[in-house]
Amino acid sequence: MACMTSSPHHILGIDIGGSGIKGAPVDLSTGALTGSRIRIPTPKKSTPKACASVVAQIVEQFSAQIGDSPVGVTVPAPVVHGVVPMMANLDPAWVGVDAEKLFSDQLGRQVVLVNDADAAGLAEVRYGAAQGRRGVVIVTTLGTGIGTALINDGVLVPNTELGHLEIAGFDAETRASAAAKAREKLSYQRWSKRLQIYYSAVEKLFWPDLFVVGGGVSASHERFLPLLKLQTPIVPAMLLNQAGIVGAAAVVAARYPLAEAEGAARGVRASDPALWDTPK
Ligand code: BGC
Repeated sequence: MACMTSSPHHILGIDIGGSGIKGAPVDLSTGALTGSRIRIPTPKKSTPKACASVVAQIVEQFSAQIGDSPVGVTVPAPVVHGVVPMMANLDPAWVGVDAEKLFSDQLGRQVVLVNDADAAGLAEVRYGAAQGRRGVVIVTTLGTGIGTALINDGVLVPNTELGHLEIAGFDAETRASAAAKAREKLSYQRWSKRLQIYYSAVEKLFWPDLFVVGGGVSASHERFLPLLKLQTPIVPAMLLNQAGIVGAAAVVAARYPLAEAEGAARGVRASDPALWDTPK
């Protein structure tokens, strides 16, 4: 029987963002980082290959801790069965690429790729502001873009992409993201008017039980969340800029429910029909 050299509960999560690629091992029983976070700037030409090389450097730094276990990696784009069908904020070379396979091949280990907001959403539901909440939770991340995660009774509906809702002829994230605030030098007051329009539109379509607001700017939540008038309670994220890392690691465990131990290390997917034949 193959044996993982790391604790099965400590999984490396890596978050690929527009400006930095960050990673740390995560204790999945608590959601806490178990090593100091490494951050390397995102390559200027942010192709999948260039980003995978940076991810490989981060993996290398933690190799003693994580052994041959799979690694979770977020991308700021939808991920449909490993393939990135569109890319708003990194190099367009990602489009149409089976990036999960490319990363797994380039790193020589299983990589699970997940949308950044979906990862953050799962992290908030498991360990943060939406812990234990039943019903529909929408986690939004306000950063370069607007990311969204839709979670019902703890179950994620992936790739919702509500940051690209078209509102009054605009792609919503181009008006209401934190980047739009910075670009147009909007005060919190002015920006909150745009957030009001955005969250009202999402509320009208989904009637969620809770909004959770993440992204770096959520550290200043008291400057804009109290200005919003919504029927849905809206609260700041708790994991702040660690949510992507923690969620990426959590997604590995979700993908490999049986395989925390030997299967994942050997590259068997939980959904792999071969698992049915695996003798106990
Ligand atoms: C992307 C999403 C991503 C969000 C936050 C959007 O532009 O389309 O997939 O979650 O930015 O990074």
